[in-house]
Amino acid sequence: MECYSYRVKCPLTFYLLFSCLISLSLAQSATSNLPFKAVNLGGWLVAEGWIKPSLFKGIPNGDLLDGTQVQFMSGKLGKYLSAESGGGTILVANRPNPSGWETFRLWRINESTFNLRVFNKQFVGLNGGNEVVAVSSEADTSETFQIVRKDDDPRRVRIKAPNGFFLQAKTEASVTADFPVDTDWRDDDPSVFVMTIITILEGEYQLTNGYGPERALQVMREHWSTYITEEDFMFMSENGLNAVRIPVGWWIMSDPTPPKPFVGGSLEALDNAFTWAQKYNMKVIVDLHAVPGSQNGNEHSGTRDGYEEWGDSYIQETVAVIDFLAARYGNKPSFAAIELMNEPVAPGVTIEDLSKYYKAGYDAGRKYSSSAYVILSNRLGPADRRELLSLGQSLSGSVIDVHYYNLYSDKFKNMNVQENIDFIYNERAAELSDVTTPNGPLSFCRGMDCSVVSKWSKDGRLRKLCKRPTRCIWTSHG
Ligand SMILES: *[C@@H]1O[C@H](CO)[C@@H](O)[C@H](O)[C@H]1NC(C)=O
Repeated sequence: MECYSYRVKCPLTFYLLFSCLISLSLAQSATSNLPFKAVNLGGWLVAEGWIKPSLFKGIPNGDLLDGTQVQFMSGKLGKYLSAESGGGTILVANRPNPSGWETFRLWRINESTFNLRVFNKQFVGLNGGNEVVAVSSEADTSETFQIVRKDDDPRRVRIKAPNGFFLQAKTEASVTADFPVDTDWRDDDPSVFVMTIITILEGEYQLTNGYGPERALQVMREHWSTYITEEDFMFMSENGLNAVRIPVGWWIMSDPTPPKPFVGGSLEALDNAFTWAQKYNMKVIVDLHAVPGSQNGNEHSGTRDGYEEWGDSYIQETVAVIDFLAARYGNKPSFAAIELMNEPVAPGVTIEDLSKYYKAGYDAGRKYSSSAYVILSNRLGPADRRELLSLGQSLSGSVIDVHYYNLYSDKFKNMNVQENIDFIYNERAAELSDVTTPNGPLSFCRGMDCSVVSKWSKDGRLRKLCKRPTRCIWTSHG
């Protein structure tokens, strides 16, 4: 494996699925088998619908999951329900075109019962009488609604309020919960709405809460024990990979009884991964992919409804997860690195909060291993890509993880291996040299898509890790 010419040093080369990896301050590291040729085991211990859609197939009313965004148009008025001012006051039914204030995020209670969270994060509820408002920051019984779908047309719905009556849009200015049960679903029935689903989230929260506790436990255990197995480690090792990055969720710390709706068992799976890694002489990078509060609102952050809420108040809890993981694995020979947080997004996650957390998380990780790398993920979104350089320089054995995707654009679709490599050389050179400093030695990895891996793998078995493009990395170059 050669270093690219513009590198100052090449201590650590990840060929990670999603990421390019920058390493800093590596002088102390005792990690032996650099560069890492690693694959990201995405979708295993943090479920993601786009990686394994079949996981979600058995969920009843599976398009109404936590975080599903819906809009309701009154059939009678031809106008959309809207949380006036985005929330904090009444609901109205007067908007011809839906946007943020007309969008409701579901919190799923069970397959037909939900809380509805509005733009400003209040929940739809009753004001004590029949008036429908969005004023409460907590979801309790008076914020709990049943969505009744028409049998032969699930887009047509009625919304049953906790008082037993149905919502109706009597006039554009008045939405009340006082319509009786009976309906024949006529167009001019003011309790009938046309529901449009804008976005569906499919992450571990949605999966486990969608199935409910018993079924979720079965589904997750089956997934954990079959999706990645010892055979995969053997195969990866035989084919030249020497490391894996394993995304985990914050709830792994409370295994076997994590907070609902998460279910226990992922810790045992991670233990197994360490056993297998050791057996096949591979390294493990433990990646805290989902943190409490969500650092990016993406489904892979374990979010309930897509709001990014991680910040200062969550630092202590998040550091505790790092402490737990490092304590458990810090002395394992396969433990190569801990990544403190995957893909925080600016501007929601501030650089102040993040730096504070990274310092504390670094200390927690370092307590249990003097040689493991501690990986700091750069912020995605509008952020200076050099913003962590000085912090990284001050933390010995830290690594900055930057995610430049060779995907999500049509131009990558038909690129072959060499073209992917050339793209890194030619198009990423500026970005990468930006995060390279003379005293902050660096290397990077590139994300490759799966078609590349499929070509590379002889018998195609690694495709198992590649349910969709991009789950894998390409590992050999000339
Ligand atoms: C869903 O939850 C509501 C409120 O707790 C309850 O009344 C209803 O019976 C539940 N429905 C199902 C299908 O479990």
